[in-house]
Amino acid sequence: MKQASLSKNSESPRRVLVTGAAGFVGSHLVERLLADGHQVVGLDAFLPYYPRPLKEANLTAARANPRFTFHECDLRDAHLEPLLANCEVIFHLAAMPGLMLSWQDVPLYASCNILGTQRLLEAARHSDIQHLIHVSTSSAYGVEACGTEEAPTRPISPYGITKLAAEHLCQAYAHNFGLPYTILRYFSVYGPRQRPDMAYNILIRTLLAGQVFSLYGDGAQSRGNTYVADAVDATVSAMERRAACLGEIINIGGGQVVTLRETIALLEELTGRTARIEYHPPRPGDQRHTAADISKAARLLDYHPATTVRAGLAAQVQWQTGSSHSGGVATGAER
Ligand SMILES: NC(=O)c1ccc[n+]([C@@H]2O[C@H](COP(=O)([O-])OP(=O)(O)OC[C@H]3O[C@@H](n4cnc5c(N)ncnc54)[C@H](O)[C@@H]3O)[C@@H](O)[C@H]2O)c1
Repeated sequence: MKQASLSKNSESPRRVLVTGAAGFVGSHLVERLLADGHQVVGLDAFLPYYPRPLKEANLTAARANPRFTFHECDLRDAHLEPLLANCEVIFHLAAMPGLMLSWQDVPLYASCNILGTQRLLEAARHSDIQHLIHVSTSSAYGVEACGTEEAPTRPISPYGITKLAAEHLCQAYAHNFGLPYTILRYFSVYGPRQRPDMAYNILIRTLLAGQVFSLYGDGAQSRGNTYVADAVDATVSAMERRAACLGEIINIGGGQVVTLRETIALLEELTGRTARIEYHPPRPGDQRHTAADISKAARLLDYHPATTVRAGLAAQVQWQTGSSHSGGVATGAER
């Protein structure tokens, strides 16, 4: 099993900023960057989408590293210029994720994902930043997210719409002010520390507790999931291969597509439990199929996801079995 913390760095240390550093993917990214020898400035507002103690736990290893500094602040109102001082690269992961809540609180999603991104871009353009790596989502495509980056973008949830708007802001800042950016569209990330609102976390949690899992749809919906260490690999590679990926939008998927029913069967095998499933109609904003064409990532980032769904889910089961980190909201949103 590949670990997100394994160092592969062959270049000189840099000072980088990671927004959303206390989150699921952000905290893995921070650990990988520290392992590679970089100076990491982390920023997070600890938004209560899921419990703060889970995010504090995500930061435990990083906080023990003297090359890590952390700022609890909100992109929507913080004075950002000082945080960017002497940073070469920004990894922008801070966002309100999750499809379902985005219908209930559009102002929250619009303010974090659009306004927060715009404030960061504005601060970046007045700094010496050489590269802003913006993390976006397959939800920018819409109900079907299959194929290359040329596929039409027709998001069907406020989450997807605000994330696509943030992409457009990156492009507008590049066009008008020469801001150097790369956009990575992650496809359903999973693995240890996965957010408690995400389907695999809920599925594993309900299996382990003998509880009912609410399945929205018929179970034939499919996902090109990405193991978190693979997503982190791609993200770090974007920094290391800056010249190849400036101004590009790049799909980051796991390379293997599974239906929800297949995932349930696999998790039943891995946990030794039988799922208790209650079927419900699909929810507004739910995607049907996602399958990233990752040939552009392979070409530009030398990205080759290494983790099979079986191995990745086994790691997540192990994490959820050995921890109390999987509690929290229970909405079944996916990305
Ligand atoms: N997890 C996935 O499957 C997935 C898939 C596609 C895209 N993404 C994207 O990856 C990024 C990370 O997602 P995640 O799953 O780790 O989510 P997460 O919620 O675990 O992490 C996001 C972090 O950003 C912080 N944040 C949000 N708004 C902020 C603000 N205004 N100021 C400062 N901090 C703020 C939150 O407190 C949170 O800790 C997001 O941009 C998300 O859209 C995730």
